[in-house]
Amino acid sequence: DTASCTSTHPANSFSDRPLATFPLYPLDRFQTRCAQYQQPTEIGYFSYNEKREMTLQSDAELKWYYEPDLKDCDLSDGFPDRYITRDPVPERLDALLKCLQNVNALAEESGKTGVTPNFCTWRGIMTKILCTPYSRDEWELGVTRYKDTIYMEEHESDEKRQHAFGASDRDKLMSYWGYKFESLSTIDKPPSTLTGPDDEALQRRKEECVNTNVQYCSVVRTRLGNNILVMGAEVDCLVADAKPTSNPQSAYAELKTNRIISNERQQKSFERHKLLKIWAQSFLPGIPRIIIGYRTDSGHIQHIQHLKTMDIPRMVRGTQPNIWDATVCINFANGLLEFLKGVVVEDDPDVVYTVRFGKPFGEVRVLRREKGKVGLEGVFVPDWYRT
Ligand code: A3P
Ligand code: MG
Ligand code: MG
Repeated sequence: DTASCTSTHPANSFSDRPLATFPLYPLDRFQTRCAQYQQPTEIGYFSYNEKREMTLQSDAELKWYYEPDLKDCDLSDGFPDRYITRDPVPERLDALLKCLQNVNALAEESGKTGVTPNFCTWRGIMTKILCTPYSRDEWELGVTRYKDTIYMEEHESDEKRQHAFGASDRDKLMSYWGYKFESLSTIDKPPSTLTGPDDEALQRRKEECVNTNVQYCSVVRTRLGNNILVMGAEVDCLVADAKPTSNPQSAYAELKTNRIISNERQQKSFERHKLLKIWAQSFLPGIPRIIIGYRTDSGHIQHIQHLKTMDIPRMVRGTQPNIWDATVCINFANGLLEFLKGVVVEDDPDVVYTVRFGKPFGEVRVLRREKGKVGLEGVFVPDWYRT
């Protein structure tokens, strides 16, 4: 049966000689002075409503953190009847590009210079890159250089897309738990305006549908080494009564669930895998707080832990042999971006390079696709973005 031999990305034959490769090993070459990572600043933001309609410069969907009621914290409540999931259609970079285009138009109107980054992408992609030295996950990107900015989108593997469509009921429930925790931990108005334990906002968060269309996204500008980055990132909630007018990220928090940790082995796995991912995800957009809800196997939150993103690299240091090192992650990411700048040289929105990291080679490989390739792994810089 030859069908079972096809790769997860059948359209890309990586047996073709790559244009260039960037090896991961030996890892210790990244164990040097840490590349500079500038404190990210928010340059724009937007919200998606229940119908996935996007509004620029709207924080309508930014929720306030409000400690969940642990006596009544069943994450399965509402599943599946009060669960609305977003259509799994690829959205590419459109929302991020709309936001950046708008930011630059507003800057121009007021006679200021806009932002021309070296790289522009979603935070999720940078998270994957940062975690690569210590993760078994493979990834593939579509990369285009246009007017000297390098844009990167994710090519989801068939495996992952299939997972999103046809996940088992248990997978769907577990995924629901994560979103339900967000609902039960947030309210839609400032905590100072709550009138008491019977306030409607507290009722609403228990009764409302979990709708994964709804999101608040922050678009930040930062610099890694010599490269200016613009990244879009979903933000789970605000820990403050109002979004600060300057440096809003200082009040953002990331919400997570995790199974309660009941033995040494689970603690070690949490430090090695989960804390790496949570740290990378929050560090990149400069989100300083992480709030973890620890749940039982039946999906009840048992306790809440507040972590400072900044403290995580120190927390895991020395806990076990070959534990991850934030410096290696940052230097690897910096090295990879520098490498891509030298390889993705054709400045043309109709040219897409495929960049893939995977086994068994343990290296990043770059291919150039034929010009004007259409479809999922083809051209992704939209016409309206071209000037
Ligand atoms: P957890 O955070 O508890 O894992 P995020 O944490 O990035 O804000 O995502 C919120 C929730 O969305 C996750 O909760 C998880 O339930 C769900 N989720 C995120 N990425 C997912 C994926 N790739 N597959 C399935 N569920 C996912
Ligand atoms: Mg989120
Ligand atoms: Mg979260």
